[in-house]
Amino acid sequence: MLLLTGATGQVGSALLTRLLAQGAEVRCLVRDPRRLGAQRVRVQIALGDLADPPSFRNAMRGVDTVVHLAAAIRDQPQGSIEELNAIATWRMVQAARQSGVRRFLFFSALGASPHHRCRFFRAKALAERAVMDAGIDCVVFAPSLVYAPGDHWLTLLERVSLLGLTPVPGSGRAAFQPIWAQDVADCVAAALRGEHPPDAALRGECPPDAAGSEIGSRAPAAPRQLRFELAGPQTLSHDETIRVVLRSLGRRQRLLHVPSALASRALRMLERALGPSAPVTWDEAELMQVPMLAPRGSADAQALGVAPQRMEAVLGAA
Ligand SMILES: NC(=O)c1ccc[n+]([C@@H]2O[C@H](COP(=O)([O-])OP(=O)(O)OC[C@H]3O[C@@H](n4cnc5c(N)ncnc54)[C@H](OP(=O)(O)O)[C@@H]3O)[C@@H](O)[C@H]2O)c1
Repeated sequence: MLLLTGATGQVGSALLTRLLAQGAEVRCLVRDPRRLGAQRVRVQIALGDLADPPSFRNAMRGVDTVVHLAAAIRDQPQGSIEELNAIATWRMVQAARQSGVRRFLFFSALGASPHHRCRFFRAKALAERAVMDAGIDCVVFAPSLVYAPGDHWLTLLERVSLLGLTPVPGSGRAAFQPIWAQDVADCVAAALRGEHPPDAALRGECPPDAAGSEIGSRAPAAPRQLRFELAGPQTLSHDETIRVVLRSLGRRQRLLHVPSALASRALRMLERALGPSAPVTWDEAELMQVPMLAPRGSADAQALGVAPQRMEAVLGAA
């Protein structure tokens, strides 16, 4: 049995389709099963929330593999970014270890660091450390910007662009290697099937900069730890990603750069006024001001047998 968190998200839904096509037995930890759509009748459902540790401890029964995708880029009424990403992941991996789970797959983010300026990246760094230190086999994925047609970010851009010009918080110069959620799901599915060259990495024979690199030293009985940085084939600035999206919508318009200090004040006021229904928060907008780059480019994805597509091709941008 495989426990999947975040099955209703952009990567999770793409991964679930693949797992079910392969005949895997899947249990989904979800807040609202209706968000699984038609898939909900093909999986076991565990009602749960990252802010509710007993819910995911119960969901671990009989589970061999956990794929932990659920995450939050804004504070929720039940928990802060730090609680929902860092503390919840620590609790999740501890619960997995205590239940005898064999391997734990986790999604961090490219550039995550405990000293990062953004709360989300700091929380992901702590979560990644918790997974690595838990003493069970683990695979960590650190993606660049992940997108899919119709996702929250593209939908927001589409709506905002109706204004006739698109406001961009900050300089728009931060660089990304956007990767399509379907390509990310292919990478996870390949890793679950063990389709990566790192046989060598698992034996500690891989050069440190090799794709799917092994982290840390390994005593004979030490858990296996793999880390894949998932990046698309292009390096695009934030402005350039927006222009690709606008072209896919058939719109060509000016971008209006809003100084960070002003954007931060305005978005914090919006969040205070609208609460959880705010269309965008400062914590989310700030994520687009920091680069997410993989030094190896798309080599790790390719090591998993996946050739990530260009953003123009996925979105149909002329
Ligand atoms: N998207 C990116 O650009 C990007 C970049 C770097 C890393 N990542 C990481 O990659 C992973 C997959 O990303 P994604 O883009 O597929 O995420 P996503 O589309 O934003 O989905 C997030 C998932 O987490 C679930 N979730 C949120 N809060 C929860 C809570 N309190 N309790 C239980 N579930 C909760 C959501 O469920 P509901 O349906 O109930 O809301 C949803 O299934 C995440 O760990 C993310 O942090 C993403």
